[in-house]
Amino acid sequence: AGSGKFFVGGNWKCNGTKDSITKLVSDLNSAKLETDVDVVVSPPFVYLDQVTASLTGRIEVSGQNSWIGKGGAFTGEISVEQLKDIGCKWVILGHSECRHIIGEDDQFIGKKAAYALNEGLGVIACIGELLEEREAGKTFDVCFQQLKAFADVVPSWDNIVIAYEPVWAIGTGKVATPQQAQEVHVAVRDWLKKNVSEEVASKTRIIYGGSVNGSNCAELAKQEDIDGFLVGGASLKGPEFATIVNSVT
Ligand code: G3P
Repeated sequence: AGSGKFFVGGNWKCNGTKDSITKLVSDLNSAKLETDVDVVVSPPFVYLDQVTASLTGRIEVSGQNSWIGKGGAFTGEISVEQLKDIGCKWVILGHSECRHIIGEDDQFIGKKAAYALNEGLGVIACIGELLEEREAGKTFDVCFQQLKAFADVVPSWDNIVIAYEPVWAIGTGKVATPQQAQEVHVAVRDWLKKNVSEEVASKTRIIYGGSVNGSNCAELAKQEDIDGFLVGGASLKGPEFATIVNSVT
């Protein structure tokens, strides 16, 4: 981990029921979490109210996506205003499942990020390459292109956390090695330095996501440019998620 405050997000994706989420929130509320870590959880939209109402203020809440602009006649969408209204401080944008399963493209994601930031939500901006792109030696190109789509439109970098999530590592149990993750994080930081500013490069947190769990988090957290994690599967278990939050020490 670098000098910025460690950031750990739990992306619950499309998982959970009222009962399982009640249990998860109660486990999180009673977990001992290092004070010097930003902790955020991202429940499915329909449980946001339940979670914001029952979680202690120690943990912030994020939406898993948001609409590109003001709400209105957009069936199935959730607006930034609604996320704020219900107590969210963050939104995850550009997740690989939205890019590759739903088909969201760079421009669409960029618009969402600009709108959310302008309205005062923090953005967890996800980037990452597919396995075939890595094998073809295109990892940096893909990440830089996704990064550029954010950089071209965002009003400022004050409220952005970048999540590097190699698609081949997501939900597969095939975690990137600490060296593989560190290498991309350094490249991303370098890209920010050259294309945005030295200040943004040094202060923007770059977190890693993809099969992070209670056993592999400590090694990853030792890497200088890994400033936290975005956790999927393991964030559904309160005690394991707490271990990941506390891995920075
Ligand atoms: O956003 C987190 C994510 O995509 C990683 O999921 O299940 O591999 O930790 P998982």
